[in-house]
Amino acid sequence: MQIIPTGAVLGAEIEGVDLRAVTPQQFDAIHQAWLDHSVLLFRGQQLSPEALIGFSRLFGDLDLAPIQETGRRFVDGIPELYVVSNVIGADGEPIGSLGAGEAVWHTDMSYLPKPPKASMLYALEIPPSGGVTYFSSMYAAFDRLPPVLKARAQGLRVKHDGTYNSGGYVRAGVTPTDDPREAPGTMHPLVVRHPETGRQGLYLGRRRMAWIEGMDLAKSEALLDEIWHYATADEISWGNNWRIGDLVLWDNRCTMHRRDPFPAESRRVMHRTQVKGAAPPMG
Ligand code: OGA
Ligand code: MN
Repeated sequence: MQIIPTGAVLGAEIEGVDLRAVTPQQFDAIHQAWLDHSVLLFRGQQLSPEALIGFSRLFGDLDLAPIQETGRRFVDGIPELYVVSNVIGADGEPIGSLGAGEAVWHTDMSYLPKPPKASMLYALEIPPSGGVTYFSSMYAAFDRLPPVLKARAQGLRVKHDGTYNSGGYVRAGVTPTDDPREAPGTMHPLVVRHPETGRQGLYLGRRRMAWIEGMDLAKSEALLDEIWHYATADEISWGNNWRIGDLVLWDNRCTMHRRDPFPAESRRVMHRTQVKGAAPPMG
């Protein structure tokens, strides 16, 4: 097995492993590489839903997939499997979430009190263009904040909105409001310490409907805009231009991700799992 860093601030490719048959020694090396590089790419994999779930479980118990935009769960009998797709099924309903548009920068499921620690996304069908997924390092975002902003960020908590998903769709069962103070969601510290690496980083969910606890709304918007500018900079990002058989595993405690739009008439089908976090994000 070989670990090849991307050369960007985060990310590495792992070569020479079949994720259907990971040995304990390989798992230890993968786990350490995941902590070191935050995002790992494995190419040329062949993973049934069961095999994807099997590899995912090496990291811990899985969270159930979020409810689909149509209000349904996904694959019958496999509630851990989240399908990300624009494909319309035989019943006229999308088989997955997020459509073909942009998915804006986000952390997975951070509107929950205990968000997943890891997510992994496996490519089954890929459009001819677009649909690139970018990751940004929240360690690097924190490190690069100007000192005054860094000091200001310490001790603040941010509301992570539970109304909209990253595709801009309203989550099933939620009545949208345009006041982030009233919306459903969870407060998390803005600056967190990673429970395994000990490194400090920013913790952000989605920009839309975010709110800094206790702050005047206009001031909160201005400060969040300033912080998001650092958190989504090209210099701290790396993108995967997907091939069929790619699996990307990310540390959901210290990265954010976004996806480019792709032509709506083409097909993109991805399977995702999410591994339970051990504890809520902590400062
Ligand atoms: C996800 C996600 C983006 C993509 O699965 O959590 O944000 O590239 N996917 O489909
Ligand atoms: Mn996501």
